[in-house]
Amino acid sequence: MDRKFYITTPIYYPSDNLHIGHAYCSTAADSMARFKKLTGYDTYFLTGTDEHGAKIERKAKAQGVTPQAYVDKIVAGIKALWKQMDIEYDDFIRTTDQRHVECVQKVFKKLYDQGDIYKSEYEGWYCTPCESFWTELQLKDGKCPDCGRPVERAKEESYFFKMSKYQDWMIDYIQEHPDFIQPQSRANEMINNFLKPGLEDLCVSRTSIKWGIPVDFDPKHTVYVWVDALTNYISALGYGTDHDELYRKYWPADVHLVGKEIVRFHSIIWPIMLHAIGEPIPKQIFGHGWLVIDGKKMGKSVGNVVDPVVLCDRYSSDAVRYFLMREMPFGSDGEFTLRSMLTRINADLANDLGNLVSRTVAMIEKYFGGEIPAPQTELQDVDINLQTLAQATPAVVETDVNAFQFSTALTEIWKLIGECNRYIDLTQPWVLAKNEENKPRLGTVLYTLAECVRRVAIMISFVMPRTPERIYAQLGVQDQNLKTWDSLFGDSFAVLPVGCKVQKGEALFPRLDIEKELARGDGIPEDQKAEKKEEPKPAEQPKNEKSAPKGHKEPEYPEQISIDDFFKVKLQVARVLACEKVEKSKKLLKLQLSLGPDGTRQVVSGIAAWYTPEEMVGKQVVLVSNLKPAKLAGIESQGMILCAATEGDGKLKLMTVEEGMDDGAVIG
Ligand code: ME8
Ligand code: MG
Repeated sequence: MDRKFYITTPIYYPSDNLHIGHAYCSTAADSMARFKKLTGYDTYFLTGTDEHGAKIERKAKAQGVTPQAYVDKIVAGIKALWKQMDIEYDDFIRTTDQRHVECVQKVFKKLYDQGDIYKSEYEGWYCTPCESFWTELQLKDGKCPDCGRPVERAKEESYFFKMSKYQDWMIDYIQEHPDFIQPQSRANEMINNFLKPGLEDLCVSRTSIKWGIPVDFDPKHTVYVWVDALTNYISALGYGTDHDELYRKYWPADVHLVGKEIVRFHSIIWPIMLHAIGEPIPKQIFGHGWLVIDGKKMGKSVGNVVDPVVLCDRYSSDAVRYFLMREMPFGSDGEFTLRSMLTRINADLANDLGNLVSRTVAMIEKYFGGEIPAPQTELQDVDINLQTLAQATPAVVETDVNAFQFSTALTEIWKLIGECNRYIDLTQPWVLAKNEENKPRLGTVLYTLAECVRRVAIMISFVMPRTPERIYAQLGVQDQNLKTWDSLFGDSFAVLPVGCKVQKGEALFPRLDIEKELARGDGIPEDQKAEKKEEPKPAEQPKNEKSAPKGHKEPEYPEQISIDDFFKVKLQVARVLACEKVEKSKKLLKLQLSLGPDGTRQVVSGIAAWYTPEEMVGKQVVLVSNLKPAKLAGIESQGMILCAATEGDGKLKLMTVEEGMDDGAVIG
């Protein structure tokens, strides 16, 4: 076979559990890889984890474990998630793998030896959470243009990569290869926002970050995380080793599938690195959109994450995968709501697909003793219309999927499913069954339906890898040749062997009671459970406030807790940037807090009786920073600041910290 296809996901940061936004990217890549395999490509699908950098070092320290132990645990969880979601990768690269470390060092040395990397001093703006350097020009309102968080001035001895040297080459390449960056709009953004203003040489080493790949010829430096991370796409293939068969076979990548915020790294830094070392560059960078909640990117820092494990446990991974690929046009952002997912499950999966399969099988059992009947040669228009559509759909699906238009492809398949159901209504098999004379006609109708169901099962398999086997089992299809993509393209519609023994099975997707599911709200953040949660009635509010001056209920403490319990509470040093009274409340102050590199938070606190807003500004306090946001007096509070009451008068005093602590420092 000479058609090869190499596809990658980004390598994920193992800094927290993954959410459904990450699953979105992997599901798309996996669906594409499955589709290419199905359509005859020699496919290689790579994913992995991006394990170095200051953020991971910090998190590990906060838990009192080594960075390696910290990432090992999270990586195990990520692998378990991919297993659960049938993400069938060919290799999983970890940037802590020795094979990767050596490859990065080799690439770095090569660039240094040929003069593309040189030593100098770095001074610039650094966004720690994003691990990105920014120039003055690139900052947005003085903050990180990607995440909006504050940046720090950083200065240290560093190695630099001569990106500027390759700038014109890069611009020309992008302009001459309109398919290189997809969707096209992102290509324009790269040229206008990053390349045209001029590339600065890139700082590619740090001396202040220990958890990274050492520069082998100057080991007090570690390699800049993006140079480290991007190299995964070739280190996994054995680039630069004696065993580079995979590299020679699969490189250049056919597509790097990435979220839109990291297109910049993949379509500028990465190709320039490769070009500089004389290697071909990836054929395409595809930037997909984000899953958002209430318009905000789903992410750990916003705290609006949906847990894919819980959703898959409850609704099946096929249903979750289907929803992710169907609901949002690929490339655009899409709003995630549990209601829309449940609605899709009921309408598309339980009703359209599920009913088609169960009705078809049930009728064959009832009218033909469970054996797929022979079709007549004489066809009516309704039959021809449906059969023609069934034969035409695969080619349309192929075009859509190859352009990453998953949603459109699935819509085409569901059009066929819809037509099958309409065909049942039009032909009314139960009426035909009343008259023995009509038996041959009934055979044609049911054969046509069964064959359409077989075709549908093949076509959905790249998105829903489990459902087809359940359908084949009901249709009595065992022969692998009846499950191939090629089997959709024969001249004749009739492929299913007559006499196949059908067998009714469980409903493919049981109907859900949507309101009940919404009330449970499995896997989704608290404030998405809107149907369940009621805002406190305004009349009750003053009373609540009186009985709970600190804005929360009196806790009942367990006798003892484990260290793991303690680590559920994230305590951070926060500085009060601004503070004001909450109107119509005697108890509440509204504070704006800085968490340093972790951004800012708004907190409402019941301390107005003891502190004036002016007194608060500039103070460093202790914040419970991973508390679910709540509304106090109608104002969102994103966390809680710690106080203790004095004996006797119950006066509240703030917990403060020793001088010289960093804003955002994690306590514990
Ligand atoms: O960026 N919706 O890792 P990462 C859709 N380590 N996609 C989302 C998403 C959301 N709400 N949230 C995250 C990194 N993603 C680097 C990559 S590659 C050499 C290094 C996607 O774990 C995000 O867009 O922060 C990105 O493509 C992927 O998850 C990994 O994000
Ligand atoms: Mg990210």
